[in-house]
Amino acid sequence: MAKANCPLPTSNLSEILDKYKQSPGSLLEILREAQAINGYLSREVLQLIAEELGIPESKVYGVATFYSLFKTTPTGQYIIRICESAPCHIRGAQDVLATIEKTLGIKPGETTPDGKFSLEFTSCLGLCGVAPAMMINDQVFGNLTGDRVREIINSF
Ligand code: FES
Repeated sequence: MAKANCPLPTSNLSEILDKYKQSPGSLLEILREAQAINGYLSREVLQLIAEELGIPESKVYGVATFYSLFKTTPTGQYIIRICESAPCHIRGAQDVLATIEKTLGIKPGETTPDGKFSLEFTSCLGLCGVAPAMMINDQVFGNLTGDRVREIINSF
């Protein structure tokens, strides 16, 4: 692992652990705050949390991988969330997904080698009226077609 690119945030993590150490059942809150430091929870961070809380690393890892809000691998600068709910599916989300996969060379759950884009599925974004839809970070895009999605990706 390239530690130089993702330094272990020992001091920030210590502050978080100090804050919650005396509160049993605060593992989720610790993981949430720890993830905010680097955008994901590295193996080293999970080990430190387990050590400090005196609980098995397997338990910490199990919780971190159970909840979809936690990431255990680095995510890209831009996270593309493509809606996989029925209205988007019916209106061509699969074609849009195929275009994204081909354009970026990644599948859902993966990040481009340059760290620029990650691709994820999401459930309904509340944009069914303009299905198929996706988000890139906090921007929303609807009425997607293969051409349109290529244009959008190239604009980032
Ligand atoms: S189903 Fe895709 S935005 Fe609602």
